[in-house]
Amino acid sequence: PEAIRPRNKDATSRKILMSRRKTKRLSAAPNDVRAAADLLSKGGLVAFPTETVYGLGADATNDLAVAGIFEAKERPSFNPLIVHVATFEAAEELVALSPEARDLAMTFWPGALTLVAPLKPDAGISSLVTAGGSTLAIRVPDHPLATALLKAFGGPVAAPSANPSGRISATTATHVLAGLEGMIDAVLDGGACPVGLESTIVATDPAPTLLRAGGIPREEIEACLHRPLMTAEATETPTAPGQLASHYAPDATLRLNAREARPDEFLIGFGDIAGDITLSSTGDLREAASRLFSALHEADKSGRPIAVAPIPHTGLGLAINDRLTRAAAPRP
Ligand code: TXA
Ligand code: MG
Repeated sequence: PEAIRPRNKDATSRKILMSRRKTKRLSAAPNDVRAAADLLSKGGLVAFPTETVYGLGADATNDLAVAGIFEAKERPSFNPLIVHVATFEAAEELVALSPEARDLAMTFWPGALTLVAPLKPDAGISSLVTAGGSTLAIRVPDHPLATALLKAFGGPVAAPSANPSGRISATTATHVLAGLEGMIDAVLDGGACPVGLESTIVATDPAPTLLRAGGIPREEIEACLHRPLMTAEATETPTAPGQLASHYAPDATLRLNAREARPDEFLIGFGDIAGDITLSSTGDLREAASRLFSALHEADKSGRPIAVAPIPHTGLGLAINDRLTRAAAPRP
């Protein structure tokens, strides 16, 4: 399918290739919702309305599809993504909810509250969604069209806000198209988002902590918990764990821009540099992004120092290099 066609590596021709992708504007009609769900099943990118802002959705279990989100948004780093599901039960299949987290979910879902909770081991979520971490951000959105799409698709949908990186969030289908036309497969047009502000993000372990203010006021969450929320600063929890310098640090040392392995090194290849394993033998950055975290884990298991072949600093290569640089940074 068009959505998972490998793309050209060169930035200019990539733009041309991507802009040739036709973005469908779909309506709330059942046939259109079905079409949107089918696009997700094929690894496509579909923007959809939630009560907060439009999300740029992909199948959260499909590494390549999730890599496509970062590519379309031109995100320079792999921030973890929020997963959207239709019901509380579907959320519980993916994360372990503490009693307090469960209270919050019962009170505010469906709604503009995202919970960050320990990911269950066999949840099947792409490691790009969690940025290689052990927690998952999850919510049940309160929007009829989001619910219809999630039910028709029948699985978890990873979705950051549907805007190019560094730009303001989209609250209408027209905003989405202004930023992402030609980069995504479709937008489901559900009119304007009623809240217009992103969800409030609360981490639930070990103690409830506010990671991002948003659509549900802090006071309402504290009233539900009968205690104050900690703030990210107070606990030194980074707002976005992906931003922490050594967020994903392998045990072994990591050497970048390696053209060949030194004795004993485990080499992660790219393009012409083969290595012990490769991120992409054809030099496809999207494939490389989709394999990044599992490659780092595999290299780490070898117990040898790790070297990584040079990755071009274009397109998804920016986020890949950002992540590798953090992994290579000295540990705290
Ligand atoms: O209202 C919203 O939350 C919208 C709609 C589409 O649901 N989504 C949204 O996603 O705002 P995004 O990607 O723009 O912001 C997600 C935030 C990021 O700051 C990210 O770092 C944080 O959530 N996040 C995601 N997973 C996390 C995790 N496991 N731990 C901590 N923070 C996480
Ligand atoms: Mg955003």
